[in-house]
Amino acid sequence: MAGIKETDPEIAEAIGNEINRLQHKLQLIASENYASEAVMRAQGCVMTNKYAEGYPYKRYYGGCEFVDAAEALAIERAKKIFGAEHVNVQVHSGSGANMAVYFSCLEMGDKILSMDLNHGGHLSHGAKVSFSGKYFEVAHYGVGKETGRIDYAEVESIARKFKPKLIVCGASAYPRDIDFKAFRDAADSVDAYLMADIAHIAGLIAGGVHQSPVEHSDFITTTTHKTLRGPRGGMIMCKEEFAKQIDKMVFPGIQGGPLMHAIAAKAVCFKEAMAPEFKEYQQQVVKNCKKMAEVLMKEEFNLISGGTDNHLILVDLNNKGITGKDAEGALEEAGITLNKNTIPFETRSPFITSGVRIGTPAVTTRGMKEPEMEQVAGLIARVIGNMEDSGVREKVKDEVEELCGRFPIYEDLKWQ
Ligand SMILES: Cc1ncc(COP(=O)(O)O)c(C=O)c1O
Repeated sequence: MAGIKETDPEIAEAIGNEINRLQHKLQLIASENYASEAVMRAQGCVMTNKYAEGYPYKRYYGGCEFVDAAEALAIERAKKIFGAEHVNVQVHSGSGANMAVYFSCLEMGDKILSMDLNHGGHLSHGAKVSFSGKYFEVAHYGVGKETGRIDYAEVESIARKFKPKLIVCGASAYPRDIDFKAFRDAADSVDAYLMADIAHIAGLIAGGVHQSPVEHSDFITTTTHKTLRGPRGGMIMCKEEFAKQIDKMVFPGIQGGPLMHAIAAKAVCFKEAMAPEFKEYQQQVVKNCKKMAEVLMKEEFNLISGGTDNHLILVDLNNKGITGKDAEGALEEAGITLNKNTIPFETRSPFITSGVRIGTPAVTTRGMKEPEMEQVAGLIARVIGNMEDSGVREKVKDEVEELCGRFPIYEDLKWQ
């Protein structure tokens, strides 16, 4: 069979360049990771050919015995890892998972209480530009101006006034642990459902370094490609009483045929997440993040909430006199990839922003530990402290290359 290079040299070139970028630059985007070769092989396997509408052993198509086995394994493993009563692995993405939950338990116009986008929430938690903000009435809680942390008493007080039918917790840019029990109490105070979106912290929960939402939530949604280090995709967990309505909403409610290759890859990811090394990896992700935070604070960076409990740091750049956009651009030139990010009480547009978000999942997958985090934080400080000096960026880029060379990734990747 002809490979990618013979069939499509232009795409082969783009993929080759992407591998090169992943190998030779520092990946500090908090929502990204390096999936294993096994995960990627499953994701690129023959199961992409199969139509399997329905669920394992109850399909609308013949020839499903092997994809049934793959999906059943994915479900069984996810249940074991998270202790969930019911799991749906067919949702294509995190946003789709959230859509399925909303549509399964709410009517159009019903009320959702969720975290403000500028305070760390996600677009699919009710932003005006998203379906979630268009079809539902949404109110937001945020973080305290001084603390940078969620004030759970305030969440409950907003809930009592707003009377939502669903409370959403979970975030894209919140550097602190989330107290799911406190959210449950707020939901109970107004008889609301509770959905925990653990897209960012699913790996930390699987690795036992963040409390689990399972006991406290009616619905849990996640992606599989962030800290969980699997293929790009989504997943929903819920109490048994909601199992039928969730499955029906995913298919045929909002999706057609499941991506069986992605589901096979999710199963591989879950197998990896059950290994003892995965726990160690997640512990190291958090240790690395704390070390990075410590060094950045020594370099007089203002961190939202004054530090981190998890895999990410949110930096307020106002005292450095530069925007998130400029910082992102300068760091990219120096071989350090991260993203500009709005900060709580943001005054700039999402295209400019006053902050950057930094995450340690990907560099930790490469094997980097605290000494390297010290070095990386130092490099970031040098670039931000010398924005006018392109020579500094050149020197930092050389150091980044050297550091990446010591922690190789995807060296023997067979992809063509
Ligand atoms: C908290 C949270 N929920 C949902 C999503 C959406 O996931 P996807 O990009 O797969 O739709 C994200 C993605 O960044 C996220 O951070």
